[in-house]
Amino acid sequence: MSTSKYLLSAITAATITLSASLAPIQTATASAFADADDAVKYRQQGFQLIRENFAYMAAMVRGEVPFDGAMFEARAQSLHHLSHVPWDGFRYAGENHRGSGDAKTELWDNWDDFTARVAQLQEDTKNLAEASASHSIGDVRSAFMTTARNCQQCHERYRD
Ligand code: HEC
Repeated sequence: MSTSKYLLSAITAATITLSASLAPIQTATASAFADADDAVKYRQQGFQLIRENFAYMAAMVRGEVPFDGAMFEARAQSLHHLSHVPWDGFRYAGENHRGSGDAKTELWDNWDDFTARVAQLQEDTKNLAEASASHSIGDVRSAFMTTARNCQQCHERYRD
């Protein structure tokens, strides 16, 4: 088999494997979640991963565990990636599921404000990840505090 033919069949095989593995997900539901409970579980699990990463960085900033610049940077990058995760669990929970989980109904009444806060968290965690690249605690403190304010203020408004 020539190299290009070999590559082509490898790509075809990979595509078939991929579509086979995606098929059950695509047919399960039009909105990615089986029901509201499924959406709540999804977003809460996302927040738990956010909390794990965030708490570890908080302990370093407070001096409760020794500052490790490389570890801090890895956590900050994970946090930034995770800052994109929970929100579909609110969007696709839909109108009929207002107030599901520990989310207040006000969240769906103020959707634009909520999504602006999401965008702010994504921006602030990006800045934190960038600031952490120097592996110096002096460079991360203020970006970390700015990120922390997002959590607190959104919870005060929209979490029971
Ligand atoms: C834009 C709003 C918003 C921001 C920003 C936000 N959260 Fe939340 N968070 C929520 C809401 C709403 C809930 C309730 C979710 C539910 O129970 O359905 C929640 C729930 C949680 C939970 C509980 C999950 C569970 O298992 O019940 C944790 C932990 C959490 N958030 C951590 C954080 C941390 C840490 C940050 C900041 C790095 C953060 N959140 C930023 C809105 C936000």
